[in-house]
Amino acid sequence: MSKPLKFVGLCGSLRKASRNAGLLRYAGSHVPEGVLFEVAEIGDLPFYNGDITEKPAAVQRLVEQLRGADALVIACPEYNYSMAPALKNALDWASREAESPLAGKAVAIMGAGGGMGTSRAQYHLRQTCVFLDLHPLNRPEVFANAFSASFSESGELVDEKIQGLIVQQLQALQAWALRLR
Ligand SMILES: Cc1cc2nc3c(=O)[nH]c(=O)nc-3n(C[C@H](O)[C@H](O)[C@H](O)COP(=O)(O)O)c2cc1C
Repeated sequence: MSKPLKFVGLCGSLRKASRNAGLLRYAGSHVPEGVLFEVAEIGDLPFYNGDITEKPAAVQRLVEQLRGADALVIACPEYNYSMAPALKNALDWASREAESPLAGKAVAIMGAGGGMGTSRAQYHLRQTCVFLDLHPLNRPEVFANAFSASFSESGELVDEKIQGLIVQQLQALQAWALRLR
């Protein structure tokens, strides 16, 4: 049997009842057979600062998790038409490694936000992926409305249509990651 793939999730929202974290939790419990999933904590990373010469433990932990990943699953909130700073900060730290823990990897993007479902932020993130040499999956796209009955009060995803899209996206990510491996 071939080695299982590892997907690592990143969530750009740090709040407890985050709808984006809810998307990622749903994804984590619905990965296809042959895939392992874990979420990388990014809430304790310091803001990137080029004067920090000794790598913080939280950054080292993130980099190791990313190195171990075959593919990423990013839950991308939209703040002021772009990606949330916690997510950008995590990508910025990872991008400063001499040997990139991101380059060449497959990534699936999903998000919960206002009426446009974080589409604007997701397209900014796709632009950032160009420089990071990450390879985003094109389809299916996952755009959820965070202010609708798609989520329970605590942030669990309850919308069957979006649940189905996430399952499809994870299957497509598995195939994409295997092609890139
Ligand atoms: C600073 C800030 C800026 C925001 N800007 C946008 C925006 O431009 N577009 C949008 O759809 N939602 C925007 N929102 C709403 C977020 O999409 C919403 O808070 C969403 O629930 C965040 O995801 P979470 O539930 O995972 O925390 C903004 C929220 C904050 C806090």
